[in-house]
Amino acid sequence: MELKVDNGEGIDSWQEVMLVYNAALRQIETKMQILNDEFQHVHQYNPIEHIKVRIKTPESIVKKLKRNGYESTIDNMVKYINDIAGIRIICSFTSDIYRIADMISEQRDIKVIAVKDYITYPKASGYKSYHMIVSVPVYLSDRIVDTKVEIQIRTVAMDFWASLEHKIHYKFEGDAPEHIKNELVECARMVSDLDARMLSLNEEILAISREREKE
Ligand code: GTP
Ligand code: MG
Repeated sequence: MELKVDNGEGIDSWQEVMLVYNAALRQIETKMQILNDEFQHVHQYNPIEHIKVRIKTPESIVKKLKRNGYESTIDNMVKYINDIAGIRIICSFTSDIYRIADMISEQRDIKVIAVKDYITYPKASGYKSYHMIVSVPVYLSDRIVDTKVEIQIRTVAMDFWASLEHKIHYKFEGDAPEHIKNELVECARMVSDLDARMLSLNEEILAISREREKE
């Protein structure tokens, strides 16, 4: 690991940085589990299918710093890399995504730094997801470190597409033939259609059960 130490904002060793990012990630994960449990309790329904967390490897941190023209220092990685700690929240329906994003924004100790809505505005690749960069305070023995976490929120169908597209594109190192790219965009359309149909089915089912409760 080729990261130079240069006394950033009180973070002075690689181990300490990783400890802090890990703590931030666990805090967000727990917050999400609590929201899901509460939702289950109040609405008899859980919006979160599952959660994946990951810490960026030292190799890809160094690669990203280099790509962006920064020297590999701890100070630079804390400052310029927003996705060292990443959490992916996989929801059932598209409507759950915005519900969860709102609940995150409303938490008092979470600061939303940036939002990218690739659901309203999908990428040219066909990629859809809701991205947030947030910061959470991590309480250490003698100080508080505000720590950035990247949150990606998407449906099961969007996750299915993104996982396979990533695998395919990775094989071509981002330089896939045009017809394969087009085919992937077409698959993304089918996935969006599936999401829309599942959502309207769910709404219909909810309406029917409300009617039956009245009877
Ligand atoms: P990175 O340097 O990759 O982190 O990108 P960025 O900082 O420009 O942010 P962006 O919001 O574009 O992408 C962040 C993350 O979203 C990526 O690391 C991927 O996990 C995911 N992502 C973005 N675009 C695509 C895509 O076209 N396909 C797939 N499969 N994932 C994507
Ligand atoms: Mg990334």
